[in-house]
Parts: sequence; structure tokens; C-alpha cells
Amino acid sequence: HNSLHLNNLAEVSARRINPGISDDEDLSPRNQQNKAVLRKEELDFIPICEVKSREAISAIHRAKSQFCKQLIVNKTCLIQDGNFYPQELNNYCKLNAKIFGRHIGCYSDEKKLRLLSSFYGNYANLNSPLYCLDICVQAGFPYAGVQYGTECFCGEESPPETSKIPDKSCDMKCPGDISQVCGGYFTMNVYETGLHKFIPQTPEIKTQDGKSIRIVFLLTLNGRALRQVYRLINTLYRKNHYFYIHIDKRQDYLHRKLSSLEKQFPNIRLAPVRFSTIWGGASLLKMLLNCMKDFIDLGWEWDYVINLSESDFPIKSLEELENFLSANKGLNFVKSHGREVQRFIKKQGLDKTFLECETHMWRIGERKLPRGITIDGGSDWVALSPDFVSYIIEGKQDLLKGLEIIFEHTLLPAESFFHTVLRNSKFCNTYVDNNLHVTNWKRKLGCKCQYKHVVDWCGCSPNDFRTEDWAKIQNTLNRQLFFARKFEPIINQEIITRVEQFIGVNDHYLINNLEAYWQSIYDTNDLTASTDDTVLSHAGSIIRQNSKILATEGCDIKSGEILEIHLYKYADVYKGNLILHKAVLNNGLNVVIETWYKPKHHLELNFNSPIVDYIKTFRVGSDYDQKEMIFRNFGGILGPFSDPVLLYQFSSHKQSGNLTVLWLDPAGMLADVNIISRDENNLTNFIKPNIRHPLLPGVWKVGLFEQTTLVAVTKFLITPLEYFSGKEVSHQEVGLIHSGSHNSYRNLTNIKPLKFVPAKEESLLLEEVSNSNIKRIGNDLREWIDILNIEFYSILGSCINDSKNTHESEKVLCGNYHFNPCAVTEWSSLSPDPKGTIGKLDIHTGRLK
Ligand code: UDX
Repeated sequence: HNSLHLNNLAEVSARRINPGISDDEDLSPRNQQNKAVLRKEELDFIPICEVKSREAISAIHRAKSQFCKQLIVNKTCLIQDGNFYPQELNNYCKLNAKIFGRHIGCYSDEKKLRLLSSFYGNYANLNSPLYCLDICVQAGFPYAGVQYGTECFCGEESPPETSKIPDKSCDMKCPGDISQVCGGYFTMNVYETGLHKFIPQTPEIKTQDGKSIRIVFLLTLNGRALRQVYRLINTLYRKNHYFYIHIDKRQDYLHRKLSSLEKQFPNIRLAPVRFSTIWGGASLLKMLLNCMKDFIDLGWEWDYVINLSESDFPIKSLEELENFLSANKGLNFVKSHGREVQRFIKKQGLDKTFLECETHMWRIGERKLPRGITIDGGSDWVALSPDFVSYIIEGKQDLLKGLEIIFEHTLLPAESFFHTVLRNSKFCNTYVDNNLHVTNWKRKLGCKCQYKHVVDWCGCSPNDFRTEDWAKIQNTLNRQLFFARKFEPIINQEIITRVEQFIGVNDHYLINNLEAYWQSIYDTNDLTASTDDTVLSHAGSIIRQNSKILATEGCDIKSGEILEIHLYKYADVYKGNLILHKAVLNNGLNVVIETWYKPKHHLELNFNSPIVDYIKTFRVGSDYDQKEMIFRNFGGILGPFSDPVLLYQFSSHKQSGNLTVLWLDPAGMLADVNIISRDENNLTNFIKPNIRHPLLPGVWKVGLFEQTTLVAVTKFLITPLEYFSGKEVSHQEVGLIHSGSHNSYRNLTNIKPLKFVPAKEESLLLEEVSNSNIKRIGNDLREWIDILNIEFYSILGSCINDSKNTHESEKVLCGNYHFNPCAVTEWSSLSPDPKGTIGKLDIHTGRLK
């Protein structure tokens, strides 16, 4: 580990530190026009100073509200004045450590920092698994001028065993004290910290004072994976532990559903004050601190707080975690980046000011971190002791006051705040470099700047574990790792079931629907989201399609309100969506019906083309997730305001040269053209066409050409909207929503007429149809939607939920049609799902079952 570290240091210094990822200029397409000046007319206030930072000016241009613009101006002015950030902070750490040995290196030339000498002493003799290094580098070289802080390493990855006498060509008089400047050399002192192996000595689940250890699981939740949250709570629940749950303010579905837990369990609480905890936002730390303060105020008695998200899951039994924490009570677990500090600072954007408003983290300029303290960071998944948390929450020390100002303006603040406080406070000897987590990093997939719309930076996310990643979890068996992330049953549920088995669940064979997974897409009580109009227009049509099918069986139903829509997977295969809706049967019975349906895919291949065999995927969808390489919009429900994306996968490119993609709108007009360059690095990719909203409703075609030969065609549906802003569309609205955007199509007249593009006469006809469609409204509009829908979706079944029917398993007859009750219908979201439902408290074991 250590030798690796030194190599990195040399490498970094040689290359100059690469701020990475984020480049000022490409954050927004609008940025192209952004001049580094503020125009008076874009502000409705007078700036309190002349804003000089280009980054701030770009942020002000991009921010939408005057409120946010003003916030950025004011903060930038304060920072420009020079008195905003603390220049120096006190370090209260007194490391209980003795120097064990020292590395000395020197610069061989101005560009390279080379390790000419290595370590005196032998790591193998180091008793402690935790050792610290401090590094001092001479100022004056282009890459230097930097004082590196102290770093601590867990001795898990074994350090080099041999040592060399330092190179004689270096005159080594480097001081070990980092406050002094060394002459062309750097030194690293290795300290033994006295912290011992973290293997529990005692097997009982007792703390030193004889009580059972009590953990607060601080769940910070986002999304709609309700059943997975229940599964997580079922696994971790014990009577003596606590759950404090924060749900992103914008996720009212999850909040509504989970709020009943508070009433059921005295040890579960939902955070009453909720934040819009955007990815990487300053609000994440604010939220964590607020939650911690709240459960301290509640008087909970606890020994550890562990934060977890909806995508975390334990990989050891809870008892093993309890044992481990009992034996190590008082220590604080955080994971450090494990590289050179300055590089971490740059990569992490810690030397930039960020400001959160409009649920966005705006980057507004450079900043200097204070002297005197050690900056540290890494993972934001932590396990902290009550003493340390109380010290932070009380916030009395000047160190904390200073850090608060810094971290209120820091990207991904929870990834550095706790580490930095630990390192520089009296708690520094309780630092353990382990976040108890194994994280499924696949940087190639996870670092695609996917949060550009939320933060002015390129961030990374770990991938979801899938069955094929099993070895990574199995390998943690003898390591002090208790959780893994990320898990999403919508991506892969099999691995979650395996993990449960691994940690001791042995009654899986008794569990109904173990392989099924349901996740809500829509709920009638949701505070309206903008996509609901499309989903509801689509679902209404599916229900009508189903009613027609039922009518052929003599079962006439009157459909009512749509209550819920779920996505349904079985054995990790997408099986379609389920619409739960009210209905009245022809005998007047009020019931709830659930309808199961599935999208049809349209792909035509030209088998005369020599390259046809290489095409694995050629499909249009939306919400493409580059990290998981799937369309999150499983049902492919697209409306005039959706952003379609073409996904292609080729098995190999035998030939080079380009392929062409043509997008044809429902009126037969060429809306966009893209070029795919064929090479081995471009086998899987996606294309976002450049077509403005609103998209013309109807059937779109996308053709793939090799020169003039059509190789593949796919079709996708843009559903017309029956609803707009939650209400039935009006005459005026359809004129705007359904008229398409052909006036802004690129000029593509240079494209040679291909068979794919309709000839003039056909095109005139299509245009005429399209023009008359624009005017459709009411039943006529619904008819249009239904004709389109039938081509793209097929109904697979219906079940019934009749509240008056006391015999849940009895069929309900409607005409000649026998409805099965949903409770006994395997695919129904109303059928039993014990793993995805909160269990009942077993008073003997204190567990949920
Ligand atoms: C990764 C790292 O694991 C994490 O340490 C780092 O902070 C961000 O990058 P990632 O998988 O990208 O995590 O983030 P995710 O788990 O989706 O979100 C992090 C936390 O923020 C979760 O608790 C999540 O529930 C919450 N969150 C995220 C919200 O509350 N709202 C959002 O919009 C996004």
C-alpha cells in the first residue's frame, strides 16, 4: 500500500495535478454564449461589488431565479473581500504516536519527484495495523509549494517488507516536522499510532460496561424502492436499535408510505425537517447534522450511528456487527481516500467554493483552504461514536466554527467533513480508516459526469451489484466489512437474496414471491410530477384496451380513477407494468382491478445486409442510465415532452467506416441525422437526437444505414396527451402540444432520398393526417391514443380486489369472465410479498418476521 502511495505521489507530481474531471467551459450548452461579464439587464438588483470570478459569472448566467443569482453575487463578493473563509485553524490533535521510521526522497530534476531512497525500518515490525505518515515537500518547484498533511493508513494491504539505505547522493537533512521546509527533498515520517487490530476480543454482544450495544441506523433515502427499504429494515431491525429516517423532501411517495412506521415502532423516527438532498449537495451534510442533533435531543441512548441509504445492505449478520462495534467502542470509522492529499483536494473540488440553490451546486470560484489543519476525506458512509457526534453538534470549538463555513460551501461535504474534524480534534486517536463498507466501483461506467445537471462538477457513482459480482461480496468474508453498496432490486434482486442467505437467512424457501419485485411508478396521492400527464394518458388508454377485451367476454366495466402503477419484475426479468384502478362491474359492484400489460418491441432487420448479424440492440427509450446501461423507463412510455434516446449495441465491428441514423417523425419528415463511427471502442453507445419539444405524437421510425443500405429499423411511440398539468387537455392546448416542432428541424435536404423517407405523395398524405390529428380532442383524441397504444402494448391479464368479498380466494364472475382475486394472483402487486413488507415484531426475539 505504502509503496503504491509513494509511486502515486511521484506520478502526480510529475504530471502536475490534474483537477480532473471538471472543465469550466463545458458545463452547460448555454455556456457557449456566456461572456465573462454580467449584463445589467439580466439582474433585477444592483450587485454589491464587481464580480470577478468567471465561474461565478457563468453560474449567475445559468441560475434561473433572481434570488439565486443574488445569492451567488453576494457570496462571491464576500469571498472576494477576503474575509469570508478562515485563513488558519487550530489543530487540537495530539497523536498518541511514536515515530516508527522515516521515508526520505528527493527530486531528481525539476519535473520529477522521485523516490531515490526508501524506507528505513521495516513495516513488518510494525505492531499496529494503523500507521500514519506525514509528508513535507519543498516549495519552489512547479508542482510543489504544497504542504502535505498527515495521512494514516490501515495496514491491511501489507507494506513493503524490506528497507534500503537512503541514496548517498542525497544530502539528507530533511526535518521530520512538516512545519519546516526541506531542501529539495521530501520526508515522510511513519508513526505507529497505538491503535490495535479491530478484531473483537470478546464474542458476547456486550459493551465494556456490560450493556448490549445500541446502534442508530440513520437511513437517508431517495427514490421509490419502498419494498427494498422494508427489506433493509427487516434485516437490521432489533428492539434495542434505532432507525432515524430522512427522506428527500421531494420524495413524498416514500415519505407517505414510511410514515406509518413511526406509529408502529417506538424506535423508528422520521426526520420532521426534510431537505432536498441533491447529489453531492451541501444540504446532505446539513441534513446529517440536523438528524443527529434531533436524535440526541430525543434522548436516545446509543453507542454508534451508522448512515445507510436505500441502496445499502448488510453483508454480515447484525450480531457480527454488534460484536465488532462492542469490542471497538469509542472508535470512529471513516474511510480515507488513500492517495496523496493534494490530489484528493483537487479531484474533490475542495479548493473551490460551491453554493447550493435551486437544487443545484453552483461552482463559483477558487478558494484557499486554511493553514494549520490536515484535510482528509474519502467516503461519506461512516460509523461514529456519541462522544464525537456530540462534540460536533455542540459545535463550540473554533475549529468547528471554521469548518462549518467551509463545508457549507463544499461539494460532497459528508465525504470530508467528519474525516477532517476527526483528524484535527482531540478525537484524532479514535480514527479508523474503514467505513465498514465494500463499494462496487466500476469507474469506467460510474464516472460519466452524470450529475452535470445537479452539480457543476463531474462526480462518480458506484455500480449496482449484480449476480456476476458475487465474488466481491464473498471476498469480504474475513474482512471487517459489514455493508455493501449499491443494491437496486430493479436492476438485480438475485444478489440481494444471495446476500441474505450469506448472512444467515435460511427460510427463503418459505417466502412467497421471493423472486418477484414491484416498484411504484405512479401513485394517485403523489404530488403531481411533470411526467404524470404522459403516464396517465398512457395508462388510461391501456385500461380502455383492457375494457374492450373484457367486453368481448360479456363483461362491461366502467373504469374509474387510476390508483397506482407498478413496474413488475420476476427473476430479474422485466415482465411489464401493473395498473391498479377503480371500476364498476355491470352488476353495479364497486371493485378495484389490476391490469398487467407489457410493451412490444419493434425491430426490423435487413437480412441481406452483411452487417446485420452484428446488431445486438437497436432501440429507442428514455431515461437511459449510462452507469447501469439500461433505460430506467422500462415501459418506454414517451410523450411530446420526453427525451428519446437511441441505444445501440454491436457485437463487433469487422469493418470500419461510418453508419448513418435517420429519425423520421410520424408525418414522414426527417427530424435528425446522426453518424455512428464504427470502431471497437464504440460497440455500445447511445444517441440523443437533436429534436426540440414538443415531439410530434405518433409513431416515429429510426433507420440505421450502411451507406444507402437500410440495415435496421426501429419504431417508437410518442403518445398524444389526454391530460396536461393533470387536467384534460383543451382545444388550445392540443394545438400547442400536438403540433410537433418540425419548424425547428435541422435543414437536412442534402440527405439523398432513400426508400426509408416517404416519397412526396405519401409524405403529403402523412402530413395531412398529422395536421388533422392536431385538432383531435375528447373521445376523438382518446381513440387516436388507443389506436397507437394497441400497436405498442399488449394486455396480459387482470385481477380483482373486491373489498366486500370476504373469501379472498373466490373468483368474481363478470359476464363470462372470471376474475381471479389479486391476493392470489402471482403477478399482482397486491399478492403477498413478505420480504418487501415490514414484518411483525416477534416479542421473544425482538426481530421482525
Ligand atoms: C456515491 C458515494 O457512494 C457516496 O459516498 C457519495 O456521496 C456520492 O457518490 P451515489 O451512489 O452516487 O454515492 O449516491 P446515492 O447513493 O444515489 O446518493 C447518496 C445519498 O444521497 C443517498 O442517501 C441518497 O438517498 C441521497 N440522495 C441522493 C437524495 O436524498 N436525493 C437525491 O436526489 C440523490
